[in-house]
Amino acid sequence: MNDTTTKPILILGGTGKTGRRVAERLTAHGLPVRIGSRSGTPRFDWEVPATWGPALQGISAVYISYYPDLAVPGAAEAVGAFARLAVENGVTRLVLLSGRGEAEAQRAEEMLKASGADWTILRCAWFSQNFSEGFLVESLAEGEVALPVGNVGEPFVDADDIADAAFAVLTEQGHIGQLYELTGPRLLSFADAVAEIGKAAGRDIRFVRISHDEFTAAVAAHELPSEFAWLLNELFTEVLDGRNESLTNGVQRVLGRQPRDFSAYATATAATGIWSN
Ligand SMILES: NC(=O)c1ccc[n+]([C@@H]2O[C@H](COP(=O)([O-])OP(=O)(O)OC[C@H]3O[C@@H](n4cnc5c(N)ncnc54)[C@H](OP(=O)(O)O)[C@@H]3O)[C@@H](O)[C@H]2O)c1
Repeated sequence: MNDTTTKPILILGGTGKTGRRVAERLTAHGLPVRIGSRSGTPRFDWEVPATWGPALQGISAVYISYYPDLAVPGAAEAVGAFARLAVENGVTRLVLLSGRGEAEAQRAEEMLKASGADWTILRCAWFSQNFSEGFLVESLAEGEVALPVGNVGEPFVDADDIADAAFAVLTEQGHIGQLYELTGPRLLSFADAVAEIGKAAGRDIRFVRISHDEFTAAVAAHELPSEFAWLLNELFTEVLDGRNESLTNGVQRVLGRQPRDFSAYATATAATGIWSN
């Protein structure tokens, strides 16, 4: 019997887009899980390092999903400090959820590697679920998505594929020291993705390209925090400039199957009614 069957796996962001799915898979297989978030017990807060040690007690491995985003300044240092603390506490098996083509995310990966952990990195494309469990869901329901992004192809990856990959690397041998770049099977522009969602939902949903200044003003008008506008502008400028316009075989390498296509995601998600007005 190995450690992960007796001691819980700590899932940071365990109620979020990927963490929730990872926890569901582990629990379904009878493996113990501890949710690491502000609503977990004990509470885990990235902003309060004093909460990190208690959350690590009695744990066999950690799935690290940083919040809000690895692109935020200081994220790499926080991930590095957390990884070092985990290793000091004897928790060496660490799996990091990372992002493609983001300088700060790649710095976080280096900090993880330098911590002495038995690491695995899941370096992911944009999640399809940003359209249904993230900031885009309201605009889609309202029938218009306005973003500062042009005709750049992104290989949106399904959070269920990420969770399947995380489950595999946490429960199987042979993934230590591996970096898996996870993408979906197809490049879509944001306009393409919105069109697919409109088709699946049976609605006319418009995509409009706006400037960064217009986007910042729209975020302010919705009374969202300015850091949110900064982060999204950063992602749209830095990451969606064509650098990630390529497909990888990461899902195939970990799971031995093709990734789920965006249209399958759109069809299944439309059926929940989340994009209906
Ligand atoms: N979204 C993408 O397309 C994408 C692509 C590649 C990589 N990533 C990376 O994936 C990570 C997660 O992004 P996401 O968009 O999927 O977010 P998410 O996991 O859906 O975020 C929500 C989760 O974070 C927790 N949380 C919120 N504030 C927290 C805090 N201060 N301390 C601890 N936990 C906190 C929430 O639980 P509580 O409310 O209970 O605290 C919840 O479990 C980021 O590091 C990002 O860089 C995202």
